[in-house]
Amino acid sequence: MNVNQLKDKDDIVESNMRGNDFLTIADYTASEIHYLLKLASQLKKKQKLGIPHDYLKGKTLGMVFEKSSTRTRISFEVGMFQLGGHASFLSATDLQLGRGESISDTAKVLSRYLDGVMIRTFSHETIEEFAAEATVPVINGLTDLHHPAQVLADLLTIYEDKGKLNGLKLCYVGDGHNNMTHSLMEGAAKTGMNMVVASPEGYEPNSNIYLNARKTADLHGGTLNFTYDPEEAAKQADIIITDVWASMGQEHEQKKRIESLTPYQVNESLCEKAKDDFIFLHCLPAHRGEEVTEQIIDGKHSLVFDEAENRLHAQKALLKVLIGD
Ligand code: CP
Ligand code: NVA
Repeated sequence: MNVNQLKDKDDIVESNMRGNDFLTIADYTASEIHYLLKLASQLKKKQKLGIPHDYLKGKTLGMVFEKSSTRTRISFEVGMFQLGGHASFLSATDLQLGRGESISDTAKVLSRYLDGVMIRTFSHETIEEFAAEATVPVINGLTDLHHPAQVLADLLTIYEDKGKLNGLKLCYVGDGHNNMTHSLMEGAAKTGMNMVVASPEGYEPNSNIYLNARKTADLHGGTLNFTYDPEEAAKQADIIITDVWASMGQEHEQKKRIESLTPYQVNESLCEKAKDDFIFLHCLPAHRGEEVTEQIIDGKHSLVFDEAENRLHAQKALLKVLIGD
């Protein structure tokens, strides 16, 4: 295969994704995910070297937020700017959506002005309904069920540190029934990793997502398992990941969740089970002293700030591919 043929292959992968929505990792093929990660690394290099990459000149991304955000809002906004485009922050409470205008009408109207819409909302059905009615690409900036843009950044961070994804052991400890676990299971499965989720009773992953991700892992040479034993999950792990015990919208359950999840804290004793060169990731925001101790999140194995930075680079790749020309 010569260089031109290789370039053509990338062009085909990229053009197949153009105009698509990005609602879950499962909607994308393994080659598409690998392509997005490769493009993200290239864009990261260009950004660091000051090489112009204004692929989205004249394009506008709308960003609808029904929940708070630091990383997602800023990384999408700065990403659009660096790509030569523009981002418009749309708080759901300020839109007529907040006064009862339908999702369908909002999607149709926004599609007349914008080149793409990123949404952070509660129910995953809301973004599915919005995407069905919109005529421009819709990107999931987090729902209660999935957080795929974060997982692109996580895969990029792991790849940068380990030089590969397939065959690595990824251990997720904590609330297994949240957006991060679900998208991580799909991402690990697509990239041939061996993932183990450890959660207490009542906090197991969504069973449909888990079973589908298990099948996907099998197809891509990886494995996906669940255990109630955090030490079993952490044994010989290359990567340990956790997330908050009460996600946005679950704040009223905080006390109950602390009681159930305390044995699942990522601390020094748990991390002793992992490989010597394990890395720790957390999508942030974190609650030090709850799901992770200060020693771990601020310690030498933690890559949480590289991970946060990689939101920018991974999403720039996504934006170029989905709404570029
Ligand atoms: N990780 C993440 O999505 O962070 P924000 O909630 O700050 O956007
Ligand atoms: N599971 C967390 C992720 C925050 C980025 C939440 O939904 O609040």
